[in-house]
Amino acid sequence: MTNSVSAPAKIILFGEHAVVYGQPAIAVPVTDLRVFATFQPNDPPGQGLRVTAEDLDIQLPGDLPERVDDALSLTTKLVLQRIGATHAPDVTVAIDSQIPIASGMGSGAAFAAAFARALAASLNRTLDDDALNTLVYEIEKIHHGTPSGIDNTVIVYERPIYFVREQPIEPIDVGAPLHLLIGDTGQKASTREAVGDVRKLFDSDSSRIQPLLDEIGALVRSARDAIAAGDSQTVGALMSQNHTLLQVLTVSSPELDRLVGAATEAGALGAKLSGGGRGGNMIALVAPETQQQVGAALRAAGAVRVFPTTIR
Ligand code: MEV
Repeated sequence: MTNSVSAPAKIILFGEHAVVYGQPAIAVPVTDLRVFATFQPNDPPGQGLRVTAEDLDIQLPGDLPERVDDALSLTTKLVLQRIGATHAPDVTVAIDSQIPIASGMGSGAAFAAAFARALAASLNRTLDDDALNTLVYEIEKIHHGTPSGIDNTVIVYERPIYFVREQPIEPIDVGAPLHLLIGDTGQKASTREAVGDVRKLFDSDSSRIQPLLDEIGALVRSARDAIAAGDSQTVGALMSQNHTLLQVLTVSSPELDRLVGAATEAGALGAKLSGGGRGGNMIALVAPETQQQVGAALRAAGAVRVFPTTIR
């Protein structure tokens, strides 16, 4: 039995925020950026469940945790309940994350998924993906308030998805590889806050906002067809249109706009913010021959990190 498990980061290609209101969205895993969770029996024994991570070393009680208002305790409680265990294992789970936090890449969901997998494995059990997805969705509620469920779904099943809230997920066809650059503004941003602000905007002016959400939904449906057809020009154009609509929803930021503008000027086929917005990451679709110049333009415009990924 391996004592190390993991879960990937994610990016949203199309449809963030509108997905909360029932519109479709497209998300893909970033398999090269991961949270790893390694578990070892405690030595000396009798320490209960210890969880270590950067800036974190906590000990959870051996009984089912009473407190369920924090992500670790709730994950522990739900995993133990699911597998019918009455006591937490006497192990240390060490978490090592490569995913920047609060940056739209699903670090919270990936942390919960990796931790839950490790906890189950340390008790010689496996959580199937459906059970894990349901469980991580509960944790997402702690992080984000009213999540659509897209982040936990793409992270747990680890494949490109076309997602509509409360409907069965659909895998997407990728007709030709999509070469993306992920540019990090370096600014942490709260998805909960951005989602809450869009909600306020919607509640105060639904007759203006609903058509924008519908427009995003239509654009996502076109994007699915363009991705399946391998039509990168159209995919890029739709990404840029999606960014404009996200600006109107007030979830962009000067830094995101600067990176999106720099990528487009340097020859990207399209660019947009990805995830909750207000900071965090943007994505640019590039042709292999322009990848280098777009990457350089992103760095020159202030990206603290540029990460390439290819969707196949
Ligand atoms: C966050 O990655 C995506 C949002 O649409 C929120 C959600 O779907 O829960 C902003």
